Amino acid sequence: MQTNPTESILLRTLKGKPTERPPVWFMRQAGRVLPSYLEIKKQYTFWQMMQHPEVAAKVTLLPVDDLGVDAAILFSDILVVPYAMGMGLDFTDDGPVFEEPLAFRENPVAGLFPDPAKLDYIYAVIDEINRTKPANIPLIGFCGAPLTVLLFMLQGLGRKGDFPDAIRFIYENKETTKQLIDALTEMSIEYIKGQIKHGIDVFQLFDTHAGLLPFDVYNELFLPPVRKIAQVVRDAGLPFIFFPKGIGTGLAGISPEEADFLNIDWQTPLTTARKLVHSDIGLQGNIDPRLLFAPQEEIEKELKKYLRFGAENQNWIFNLGHGFMPGIPFENARFLADWAKNADWKRS
Ligand code: CP3
Repeated sequence: MQTNPTESILLRTLKGKPTERPPVWFMRQAGRVLPSYLEIKKQYTFWQMMQHPEVAAKVTLLPVDDLGVDAAILFSDILVVPYAMGMGLDFTDDGPVFEEPLAFRENPVAGLFPDPAKLDYIYAVIDEINRTKPANIPLIGFCGAPLTVLLFMLQGLGRKGDFPDAIRFIYENKETTKQLIDALTEMSIEYIKGQIKHGIDVFQLFDTHAGLLPFDVYNELFLPPVRKIAQVVRDAGLPFIFFPKGIGTGLAGISPEEADFLNIDWQTPLTTARKLVHSDIGLQGNIDPRLLFAPQEEIEKELKKYLRFGAENQNWIFNLGHGFMPGIPFENARFLADWAKNADWKRS
């Protein structure tokens, strides 16, 4: 393996090499907390930001300067895939809304019209990021896992947090569900191959709503496509991070075939996760983002609990247990990044 002096700390950790501290990046680091982002957002809708390569690339790189994180994550959304399958999508103040959600259609499978060219604007964003980003900052590509994306497609909006009609549909229509999963997985794989071709360095699969089904059902219907996706990413030589949020003891049922690294949510203590998760899989996470509403003394007190884990575990990426939330003070996000980078991790 080549020794590259500019190889980033994130890639070194993902490849199993020792580092002086854990690498640091945050889910939802581009939107939500940065004053510089909120300023740009005044001028554009979310769609406009995503579709202008210069704007999307700039927003992608804001947290590298403003927070000092070790990686950038593409500024886009998991719901661009169903949009490219022909579903009308709007991002409203109440969150994303689909026209004619699939659970309420007569024939949901026949109504999908996958068109990979409808994702081309994202590859232009990736090109622009690669043209402008610092060499030692890797770019993380992503998409949503089949369960989470399908729940939005079936229900139509994410405001009803538990997706009641979507879950009912899955139990009532298992065969149709499988066909929808296949179509969605195929399109996701096209999209991931496109991201890889345009030069992402790492890939993360978000399954924010993995905890809404019992692990047995998840394992039967939704983990096989995750394995397929993981294979595509690894065949290209990229590390694969998987975030099955809310999966609880199901963590023990995830095999190295499904993840190089697992992002652990804030519900599961990292030390418990380490005992449950296969020893070949590294961990990422799991600071409770809500802690960042607390005063900095309290934040620091909680963070100190991570020192021992970080000293003992090289295969760990410092991150949140779910994304930054709207309203978190920027100073506290910055404090978190600074603390993680400057703490004494006792690794020498
Ligand atoms: O740092 C980043 O913000 C990176 C880009 C990113 C977005 N969405 C931008 C976005 C990423 C990685 C996502 C992932 C995503 N999108 C997930 C999985 C991770 C998670 O947070 O659970 C999910 C479930 C979605 C679906 C989605 N998109 C929702 C529920 C919403 C509304 C609420 C919100 O702000 O997240 C969106 C819209 C969205 N995605 C916005 C941004 C910046 C807000 C758009 C706006 O302000 O109008």
